[in-house]
Amino acid sequence: MGKLGECWDDCCYKWDEWKYCLLCVGIVAAVILFAVLLAAFGFVRHLDVSVDDASLTRFELATTPPALTSLSYNLSLTLVIRNPNWAMGLKNTKPLEAQYKFDDQAFDRFQLADKGAKHPRGKTRVYHLSPAGTTRAVMLGNAGEAEFRKENATGVFEVEVAVVGEVRYTARYTKCKVEASCPLKLQLAPPGTTAVVFQKVKCKLTKPEKNC
Ligand SMILES: *[C@@H]1O[C@H](CO)[C@@H](O)[C@H](O)[C@H]1NC(C)=O
Ligand SMILES: *[C@@H]1O[C@H](CO)[C@@H](O)[C@H](O)[C@H]1NC(C)=O
Repeated sequence: MGKLGECWDDCCYKWDEWKYCLLCVGIVAAVILFAVLLAAFGFVRHLDVSVDDASLTRFELATTPPALTSLSYNLSLTLVIRNPNWAMGLKNTKPLEAQYKFDDQAFDRFQLADKGAKHPRGKTRVYHLSPAGTTRAVMLGNAGEAEFRKENATGVFEVEVAVVGEVRYTARYTKCKVEASCPLKLQLAPPGTTAVVFQKVKCKLTKPEKNC
């Protein structure tokens, strides 16, 4: 501290000693550079994931003896992922995927971005998922089928959209898992009926690992 104080004094009062002055400026610049680098790359701000729109026009369960259970559904939604970091972009180290789940059982999966794809700093990516209506085999079990019948009676289905992937941020070594869960409550609105307005759902990210 004494040295630095001396240095300041030299800076402010002995202008002729330009060497000290230069040293002072150098130290201050290094401190500022370090602070900026720390703010830019020292801490990861986690992705912002939300479902901004969704519409469900069909959701039907068929149980065909002896053991096949299938879900036929028409669901389209808009998934929004934002990278809030102002300095760090990210790169997928595994494909980024959206999974549809009913009663904790995945019944469909979609690739949002390939392995190696990048998501620049500060940018928002919007994914519209609107597959043609499909039928998928699903393992719901007794409990899941009971849950389906319960929700079927109300006309409101609880479908979870999970976003899973793995990314690496610019200038960082660790790979970070991405796991977000978006619990949706979808009012079934077959064609010809008026759908209730969908309220944007913010997705919950699982607690990040160390260094992520
Ligand atoms: C579901 O999608 C299929 C194929 O896209 C379409 O033929 C059908 O009319 C849709 N059904 C409902 C209820 O939206
Ligand atoms: C769901 O409800 C519809 C009518 O509301 C009914 O026709 C259908 O059989 C029900 N499905 C199941 C699996 O209970």
